[in-house]
Amino acid sequence: MDLENKVVVVTGAGSGIGAASAALMASLGAKVIASDIDLKSVEEVVADIKRSGGEAAAYQLDVRQYEEVDALMSKVVKDHGSIDVLVNNAGIGGKDQSKTAEHTLDDWENVIAVNQTGVFYCMKLGLIQMMVQGYGNIINIASLAGLKASGNNLSYSASKFAVVGMTKSAALEYGSKNIRINAVCPGYTHSSLLDQLLASRPDMEQKLKRLIPMGRFGEAAEVAETVAWLASDKSKYITGQTITIDGGTSLH
Ligand SMILES: NC(=O)c1ccc[n+]([C@@H]2O[C@H](COP(=O)([O-])OP(=O)(O)OC[C@H]3O[C@@H](n4cnc5c(N)ncnc54)[C@H](O)[C@@H]3O)[C@@H](O)[C@H]2O)c1
Repeated sequence: MDLENKVVVVTGAGSGIGAASAALMASLGAKVIASDIDLKSVEEVVADIKRSGGEAAAYQLDVRQYEEVDALMSKVVKDHGSIDVLVNNAGIGGKDQSKTAEHTLDDWENVIAVNQTGVFYCMKLGLIQMMVQGYGNIINIASLAGLKASGNNLSYSASKFAVVGMTKSAALEYGSKNIRINAVCPGYTHSSLLDQLLASRPDMEQKLKRLIPMGRFGEAAEVAETVAWLASDKSKYITGQTITIDGGTSLH
């Protein structure tokens, strides 16, 4: 798989799936623009990539801020000439694990702002540039929670169903413009997001593993393999799809 000289922007690249995707794509020859709200973490990811001989740059970006997204996209185009691939990965889980009637307004606002509005801002501004260059490729990190019901985290469920909807609707709009848009839907995957959930609910680990036919959580590097494949020309006739990476969890 070859990503030689592709300019790839990754949001939320300071940790977990975003960091693993940035590292893998850099190892395949991409020029990775790694961004995260947490600059220190993304600088560490970029330092590791560079130590391994890859090309990457670290930027602070809060995807909730339209002006920040706009400024980063403009800088990438000024420095590199194009945005070939955009991976919208930044995401948070809700803190509140209660049912809908008790779901807090804070959680609703925060989760929707990052997971849904943030993806919209990045898609909108990325698409404006991709239309100018005449091609492009967007990969949205949704979730199994964007395909199936998942209780006690309404804002997360709402945001991830929205990401799937935005992926399919935009793919319909931009297929004729040589721009592909797909979503990756991980199941339970080792990362700080999953660790937070398990820390707040230690009883969950065994319960969740029983739901996974393969009997283990996924690894960020396993999700990254699919992200890199979607970023490559190997998947060049695929658009508007969701690809589930969940050890069979969705079979229930
Ligand atoms: N880990 C899982 O089990 C799992 C399952 C399904 C989907 N996902 C999705 O995968 C994506 C990556 O999650 P992860 O599991 O690697 O979690 P993670 O917490 O390890 O990484 C998320 C990254 O996003 C960054 N971030 C948070 N808010 C941001 C903002 N406003 N702007 C920019 N960056 C921000 C964080 O600093 C962090 O580096 C998320 O969209 C998540 O919903 C994860």
